[in-house]
Amino acid sequence: MKLLILNGPNLNLLGTREPDTYGSKSFEDYFSELQFKFRNIELSYDQTNIEGELIDMIQKGQEDFDGIILNAAAYTHTSVGIGDAVAAINIPVVEVHISNTFSREDFRHKSYISPNSKGIIVGFGLQGYDLAIQSFLKVNE
Ligand code: DQA
Repeated sequence: MKLLILNGPNLNLLGTREPDTYGSKSFEDYFSELQFKFRNIELSYDQTNIEGELIDMIQKGQEDFDGIILNAAAYTHTSVGIGDAVAAINIPVVEVHISNTFSREDFRHKSYISPNSKGIIVGFGLQGYDLAIQSFLKVNE
């Protein structure tokens, strides 16, 4: 099983960015923990601040992976293009948000990703990525 974790804009700053909302661990550190915990899964991770690059990564992902775990960050709430990319590919996408976007500003309640996602994990901190990986394991049991 090969899974791709994709993070969108500003998530490269995890660890220092608004720690009250996003925690104080870098994604690189957390990703190492995930790789150790899920040793039987081939996990890959990428991040970009650029909308078109995220679309390219989603499109390309279907060639090499069994599923994508996507936190499109702020583009979640604005990007028809990323929503369309998720709809266009033939592998499942699980949408993750570290914070509970529904307890925050109204503009964060809208997602262009959700209608085309297999499922959504919101508000469990970094653990959301762990839960998303587990959702793929269950499907394949
Ligand atoms: C986020 C929530 C988004 O609203 C925000 O723009 C982010 C991170 C989250 O993981 O909680 O950058 O996707």
